[in-house]
Amino acid sequence: MKQWMTGQDGFRNIRSVEAAAPTEGDLKDGEVVVEIGHVSLNYRDIEATQTHLSGQVTEQDLASDLGLPLPGVLTNYRIFPDTGFVAAPSHLSDAEASTLPTAAVTAWMSLNGFQPMGQPIRGMDKVVLLQGTGGVSMTGLQIAKALDLTTIITSSSDEKLKRAKELGADHVINYRTTPDWDKKVLELTHGRGVDVILETGGSQTLWKSFECVAFGGLISAIGYLSGKEDEPEKRWNVSVMALKRNVTLKGILNGPKDRFEEMLAIAYGKDKGIKPVVDRVFDFDQAKEALQYLQSGRHFGKVVVKVA
Ligand SMILES: NC(=O)c1ccc[n+]([C@@H]2O[C@H](COP(=O)([O-])OP(=O)(O)OC[C@H]3O[C@@H](n4cnc5c(N)ncnc54)[C@H](OP(=O)(O)O)[C@@H]3O)[C@@H](O)[C@H]2O)c1
Repeated sequence: MKQWMTGQDGFRNIRSVEAAAPTEGDLKDGEVVVEIGHVSLNYRDIEATQTHLSGQVTEQDLASDLGLPLPGVLTNYRIFPDTGFVAAPSHLSDAEASTLPTAAVTAWMSLNGFQPMGQPIRGMDKVVLLQGTGGVSMTGLQIAKALDLTTIITSSSDEKLKRAKELGADHVINYRTTPDWDKKVLELTHGRGVDVILETGGSQTLWKSFECVAFGGLISAIGYLSGKEDEPEKRWNVSVMALKRNVTLKGILNGPKDRFEEMLAIAYGKDKGIKPVVDRVFDFDQAKEALQYLQSGRHFGKVVVKVA
């Protein structure tokens, strides 16, 4: 079988190799062999755990992260524990379904991690801010619309914002031409701010998020697309920023299987009509080009590699 290998020395050095396919003799109790069809790429490649079934993620769950520390899934066959599977919605293609475990579950947990199971945040009076038009944000936009939430989305591109509007975004802001986008968010919400922020930006966005979140609101810290290091003059005290508007800052590490199933039941039923936004599907031999394309930031939504 074919598989892509990395020495953890950058994706430019990933290489395609031939390997022996797993046989029945390789299986332990409770394991199954999966023939992989499509793999959706993520900023950190695949972050979904297979062992995190319910409740708070643990150190032990992180030890089963695909891609790091365990090998990734750009391969024809892979053995997994049989406890980690969920049924994909039948109206989605394999490429679309491959976007759900990481991007969609992360967006779902960012919105509903504090909500009781089966009672997601709902209604137009609740406002959500999404940063950029990458995989997590576009999935978050679709889920937020399925829950009738009001949405504001930022992007560096007017063209991408136009597409986000077509997908149902209520308000759009170009963060390049409007660098004080936090003020614009306050203006759009009549000074109240937003209830939930899917904070994917990191160092260049977090402090602005604190300025435009509503009193009592939630900032879900998901990623750091704009970097990890704050500019020196912005080293404000995080507890002061959280106190200012009585805010909760919650780190998100994907989510467990039972919340994945909750999300599928509530937001991905056929009646909701959500079709994950797959920007481009690359062939297996083009995995390196696919990662380069993801890194370029030209994509809108998800980038997928077709394995078989
Ligand atoms: N914690 C978790 O469980 C988890 C799970 C999945 C992903 N993540 C993390 O979440 C982040 C987003 O992942 P992703 O897969 O959605 O990434 P992605 O698809 O690669 O997102 C790329 C997009 O981010 C936007 N962006 C870049 N800099 C920005 C900035 N300063 N402000 C606002 N938007 C900016 C750009 O949108 P425009 O082109 O529209 O400007 C860019 O196209 C990454 O850091 C990833 O590692 C975390």
